Amino acid sequence: MAIVKTTFFCQNCGTQYAKWQGQCNACKEWNTIVEEVIQKPEKNDWKTPTTTVKKASVPLRIKDIDVSKEPRLDTYDGEFNRVLGGGIVPGSLTLLGGEPGIGKSTLLLQISLKLPYKTLYVSGEESQKQIKMRAERVNPNNNNCYILTETKTQNIFKQIAALQPDIVIIDSIQTLHSDYIESSSGSISQIKECTTELIKFAKETATPVLLIGHITKDGHIAGPKILEHMVDTVLQFEGDRNHVFRILRAHKNRFGSTNELGIYEMQGSGLREVTNPSEILISKKDEELSGNAIAATLEGMRPLMIEVQALVSTAVYGTPQRSATGFNAKRLNMLLAVLEKRAGFRLGAKDVFLNITGGITVDDPAIDLAVVAAILSSNEDTALQKDFCFAAEVGLSGEIRPVQRIEQRILEAEKLGFSSIFVSKYNKISLKNTVIKIQLISKIEDLVDILI
Ligand code: TYD
Ligand code: MG
Repeated sequence: MAIVKTTFFCQNCGTQYAKWQGQCNACKEWNTIVEEVIQKPEKNDWKTPTTTVKKASVPLRIKDIDVSKEPRLDTYDGEFNRVLGGGIVPGSLTLLGGEPGIGKSTLLLQISLKLPYKTLYVSGEESQKQIKMRAERVNPNNNNCYILTETKTQNIFKQIAALQPDIVIIDSIQTLHSDYIESSSGSISQIKECTTELIKFAKETATPVLLIGHITKDGHIAGPKILEHMVDTVLQFEGDRNHVFRILRAHKNRFGSTNELGIYEMQGSGLREVTNPSEILISKKDEELSGNAIAATLEGMRPLMIEVQALVSTAVYGTPQRSATGFNAKRLNMLLAVLEKRAGFRLGAKDVFLNITGGITVDDPAIDLAVVAAILSSNEDTALQKDFCFAAEVGLSGEIRPVQRIEQRILEAEKLGFSSIFVSKYNKISLKNTVIKIQLISKIEDLVDILI
């Protein structure tokens, strides 16, 4: 192999070393020194005479840059297209992160099986047989999808040059290995080097590349943060493994908004797109149960009706328990304190449990009012009318605060057949001719008066 020069750099202060050491002499940080390639052969691994490579770029006036010619590749998956902002941009690098077992491989395999283009699915994690078995569950009839089990980038590029795929999927970036660097797969320097090679390939051949990335315990994509800066789009696949819903969000998107959200349901035959999430998240029940309230929330740009369940009971032990699933526990404590102080409910000696159904986590503040309503309903043991819903934030002095994009929430609630929606008096609403009754309230006491 031609000359490859590598050196060691401290990731914290940038000091260069000839060999690896545990602590940086300059900044005294530990374990920050990693190997990096500083010179490598000019030859590009994926280039063959048949591959067309774009010529070097020249400066263009911004008004002369033609964006209309930016065709996007349709992924034939409505939710995936929506999150990407309308499809995959040629030559882009997309990173899909998520916890193990959440369904990243299933999602991308399923998409590659739907595509009518020539797709190369490179797996460093599973054997071809395993992938075939999974493909059989999802969509067995596809003649355009090729599976390669390989981890060395140089070999992958060799296969790419021979196959000339329209789209490349890598499962996962942490298993890749480049010959230019000696450290093991998954190390910071390997991930950086492999990603750099893939970016060069993607940009020069205009082939989109989708990468799967693992997530560390604290929710970051394993490997350097720099990986997120290098790629064009970072998608996150999340959800509770014990529930069927999966949410796909864009954390970074150079070609679209990061507000869009895709929802899937994990089934025996792969992931199903959920086009109308609200209908599934609200349990259809005939009798009214105490402790349940419906919140009109927004997830990204999409309105989502979510069911909140509360259980308030007398504490058996000295210290009352407070527990929240899918909702911030500190915020729950705050809302309980507001209820105690402003509305005179003695909740100090009660256990309070709160649950957002469907296994989803909500941080939209507009859910506050539904949480309060569910707690009140459970505390009084009287059911709320099941066609009521709520959308407002609750402040520390018990005031009901306005939330953004209230009209969209109201329209969603109306579409789903709710009879009343409780919102803040201070929200500006210019909707006319709504069938749904809009109940304007300004204080938490107003809510107590109406409900109880
Ligand atoms: P996987 O895609 O391997 O997750 P990741 O790549 O993110 O680690 O798979 C996930 C889980 O999904 C696995 O536990 C089995 C389940 N699954 C289904 O429920 N239905 C299916 O059709 C498939 C293919 C998987
Ligand atoms: Mg996987």
